Amino acid sequence: MQPLKVAMLGCGVVGSEVAARLQSRAEALEERIGAPLELTAVVVRDAQKERPGIDPNLLTTDAEAAIAGADIVIELMGGIEPAKSLITSALAQGSSVVTANKALLAAAYGELMAAADETEVRLEHEAAVAGAIPIIRPVGDSLAGDRIDRIMGIVNGTTNYILDQMDSQGWDFSDALSSAQELGYAEADPTADIGGHDAAAKAAILSSLAFHAPVTIDDVHVEGITGITAEMVETAKDQGFVIKLLAVCERVEDSPAGPGLSARVYPALLPRTHPLASVHGAFNAVFIEAEAAGSLMFYGQGAGGAPTASAVLGDVVSVARRRVLGGRGQYERPLHPETTLLPISA
Ligand code: NDP
Ligand code: HSE
Repeated sequence: MQPLKVAMLGCGVVGSEVAARLQSRAEALEERIGAPLELTAVVVRDAQKERPGIDPNLLTTDAEAAIAGADIVIELMGGIEPAKSLITSALAQGSSVVTANKALLAAAYGELMAAADETEVRLEHEAAVAGAIPIIRPVGDSLAGDRIDRIMGIVNGTTNYILDQMDSQGWDFSDALSSAQELGYAEADPTADIGGHDAAAKAAILSSLAFHAPVTIDDVHVEGITGITAEMVETAKDQGFVIKLLAVCERVEDSPAGPGLSARVYPALLPRTHPLASVHGAFNAVFIEAEAAGSLMFYGQGAGGAPTASAVLGDVVSVARRRVLGGRGQYERPLHPETTLLPISA
């Protein structure tokens, strides 16, 4: 089987982890896909910078040339432009696209999906919401036959890390933010995190999928955590509460404007006994209420290079399988013939 050509746009916190795993897991990925993946180009702003583990010959600043002829384009540069134009070009030439770019999806979801429909290719984005946690497929596919009434939870790792460090270690806001940046949790411009806009982008994406409606970031009420002081965190703690940045997306039947959808992001006071109070560090947790399924809970690492790379690679395997296997897409390959099944113990 011919290798599938993969072009990667961006090689920062997430991209470097994806590139490392494309190499270290090459054999396993080939086995799952049915064809090898060949990384043909890695687009960056500074092609001279040393990047451990990346073949310098792959580094380029010429994004258009890099995506030309690629089977799969992985967009991990972030921001609206040039990411949007490059994804649109990639889809137009028939490449499958995988992105983690929630800012772009929350601004142009419908437009990008329509572009993917045009050439009948996939645009996958599991990594765009809640890092490693599988949430896009559960909301968009697994629950598509149900009626989702509410999605609520912590969807930004940076702000959860900051609030948690302030609460548990007594750190001040700016030290906690610097630490979140060093750990690779924050966006290139961290005001998107602390201002609540990153969580709002994720709320818009989840709402669009859950409620089958074109919700953009402009439809989401946003309050961030920039006004939260060490004193507020301390006072809340003394009174048995914890402050968490929540995203809530729900159907509202009895608003003054009549029935409709509401999506909002705001810092909330939660009793320390609340399940979300025990979500620490950069972890995320999402609760879903659906008519037939009832309550569901998702929990895991919401930010950082390796956890996000896991979600990106899952999408890469998914789109690659579709290219190899056609409409069968999510074909499950059997166990490797040499895998040993342990005897069942009595
Ligand atoms: P980084 O800022 O660490 O990396 C961005 C990369 O893209 C860099 O390699 C940079 O090049 C390159 N790049 C940026 N702009 C351009 C441009 N105009 N032309 C060419 N190359 C460019 O970002 P992250 O890896 O943290 O995030 C990538 C994406 O993943 C974003 O959309 C983000 O929202 C999303 N995401 C991030 C998560 C995280 O925990 N960090 C989690 C989930 C999603 P250079 O290295 O030369 O500067
Ligand atoms: N900056 C984001 C966060 C990355 O902290 O949640 C994961 O989307």
